[in-house]
Formats: sequence, C-alpha cells, structure tokens
Amino acid sequence: MAKRKSEELSELKIPAHVAIIMDGNGRWAKKRLLPRSAGHSAGSRTVEQICDDAWSLGIKYLTVYAFSTENWKRSESEVATLMDLLRKYMKNCLERSRKNNMRVRVIGDITRLDDDLRESIVTLTRESASNTGLCFTVALNYGGRDEIVRAFRKMLADYDSGRFVADDITEEMLSEYLDTYDMPDPDLVIRTSGEIRLSNFLPWQSAYSELYFTDVLWPDFDKKELIKAIEYYSGRDRRFGSETSKN
Ligand code: FPP
Repeated sequence: MAKRKSEELSELKIPAHVAIIMDGNGRWAKKRLLPRSAGHSAGSRTVEQICDDAWSLGIKYLTVYAFSTENWKRSESEVATLMDLLRKYMKNCLERSRKNNMRVRVIGDITRLDDDLRESIVTLTRESASNTGLCFTVALNYGGRDEIVRAFRKMLADYDSGRFVADDITEEMLSEYLDTYDMPDPDLVIRTSGEIRLSNFLPWQSAYSELYFTDVLWPDFDKKELIKAIEYYSGRDRRFGSETSKN
C-alpha cells in the first residue's frame, strides 16, 4: 500500500463509530479453491488487523457483524467452524485487549451460545471494561429485530413493576433498552462484497448513518480500503433531517 501522507489523512473527517458487515469470506475461499472455513479464518485475521488500523486512524468505536440470528440456518459444519473461530478469537483477544488497551463487548442474544463461549465473553467483557482504547463490539447471534423484541420484553417488565407510564416512552428511553445502550449510533456502516443491504444489522441505530458498499471481499479489506470508506464519509453532508447546507 502506498503510504498516505499524514497531512492528507488529517484532512479527513474521521467517523467516531464505524460498523461493518463483513461479507464475502465464502467467495474469497472459492476463488482460491479453498474450503469456506479458510475464508472465515482469513476473515478473522482481517478483524484483528482492522481493529489496529481503525484505532490508528482515530476511530473510537468499531462494531462488526460476526454471526447473525439467521446464520444458524447455515450447515451444521459451517456453524461449528464459525463458533470455533469465535471461541479462539475471544480467548486470544484477552491478551490483545490488554496489550492494545482495547475494550471488547458483545451485542446479541448470547444465551443460545455454548457455556464455554459465553464464559469467555463474560470474562473478556469484564477484564477489558475499563480499557480506554478502541471500543470494539462483536455482534454475535445478533439480529436488529430480535434486539428490539428483547428490548420490548425488558421494557414491559419495568412497565409492569410501575417504573414508568406509557407517556414516559421516548426514543432515548427505548435506546437505553437496546444492547447498544452505552454506545453512540454508527456514523458509517460499511458492507463488503458487493451486496447492497443491511441484513438486520443495527436497523434502529443506523437510521442516520452514512452507508458505504464496496465490492472488496472481507478477507481483502485492509487499511487502504478503510481509508477509501472514510474518504467517502468525509465527502457526505450529514443533515439528520435538517435543510441542506449545499445550494
Ligand atoms: C459472511 O461471509 C461472513 C460471516 C457470516 C461471518 C463473519 C465472520 C468472520 C469474519 C470471522 C469471525 C469473526 C470474528 C469477530 C473473529 P459469507 O460466508 O456469507 O461469504 P459469502 O457470501 O461469500 O459466501
């Protein structure tokens, strides 16, 4: 990669929160006549590198879609491969989070995961909670609609115990019941591999996000590609529903 001059990079508007739909592991493997599992392993290495790259560019929050509520429909062996990778990742990540001062958390319904994976998630989340570097969030058994349903259940339990009345409900209040209650909304959502959809990823939180789609397959996504996405973001005029500032 040709080195970008630091002055050029300093002109970019850096999004505080970037969320990524990591797509294309299977196609990356197929192109190389490798099993799909090799694509997922390569994708997992890309995750590690992109965390470092994101932080070096000044991004504070990075959220990745690692396993959706729909991914259980994949073959038993592919689900097992992905779970093994995530298991390994969570274990190694404890060491990396110490070294990089990275805070790691998971969003999604983790109750369906195996006990050992759940335990490593709880340990990693607890041990890295006070780190002040990149806030890295893994969406695992995550679905946006499922998250909203779970939020409603928690809300109704509080309603039943008299903590609030219907008129107290606001957008801010509902946000506090979501898995992302302590994170800012994503400024930029990236999807790799050429698909142009959000696939149930952060539907509430991405209401005003800029969306960037690239044909690059996830294992090939690197710092240069991340900078391209940020350049796109830098050129956007974010209005959040107000009138245009361009004439
Ligand atoms: C989509 O590619 C990717 C996934 C369903 C899983 C993403 C998982 C990883 C990158 C590895 C583990 C994650 C972490 C956080 C360590 P696809 O299989 O749908 O690709 P295809 O559309 O080309 O078949």
